[in-house]
Amino acid sequence: MNASMPHKQERLQAILAPAPVVAVVTIDDAGVAVALAQALIDGGIGAIEITLRTPAALDAIRAIARDVPQAAVGAGTVLSATDLHAAAAAGARFAVSPGASSALLDAADTSTLPLLPGAATASEAMRLSERGYCLQKFFPAEPAGGVEYLRALAGPLPHICFCPTGGIRVDNAAAYLRLPNVACVGGSWLTPPALVRAQDWPAVTALARAAAALRG
Ligand code: 3PG
Repeated sequence: MNASMPHKQERLQAILAPAPVVAVVTIDDAGVAVALAQALIDGGIGAIEITLRTPAALDAIRAIARDVPQAAVGAGTVLSATDLHAAAAAGARFAVSPGASSALLDAADTSTLPLLPGAATASEAMRLSERGYCLQKFFPAEPAGGVEYLRALAGPLPHICFCPTGGIRVDNAAAYLRLPNVACVGGSWLTPPALVRAQDWPAVTALARAAAALRG
């Protein structure tokens, strides 16, 4: 295991765990990133994952990192060493990947950026645990087996904690959050594309507020 891993995992935990939900955002217009992040913050959601799936993503991360210091902005859909380095250079404070390749994990070992790598099976989770990842993304949560699958992993793998993401909404999030091996959940339901296009920030704040209350 890389020597800096425990420290990076602690940092990741401190970023992701305070609120029950990490907002997963795919953004087409970096010009709305600051207002969007502020709307989430106003609703009590501080961890914002901007997926690297659009040309606007890195500019959005840069803008949030610069103008919304209360937000912990991260990069999602980090698939390669190149993505990881670009995310760090843009000011991301964490990185998320749907799975884990050896090349990505090797790059993460030498990066200061904490990585939340994805696992969907016991074997994948064990391999990541061997490399020091005690906090992992469970992806895609609903299709991969959902709450019952994660509950089954908690018995033999109690030392691994998950942020399940994929198919989670306000109505099924609470069941995940009650599991002993769930630190938080991730989801895109806080920023529906139609609300973002309409720049309806009060509506986004209301969704964030409902999400922030899930563990309360
Ligand atoms: C993703 O990779 O898109 C995230 O897991 C979000 O999934 P969701 O849109 O089902 O919340």
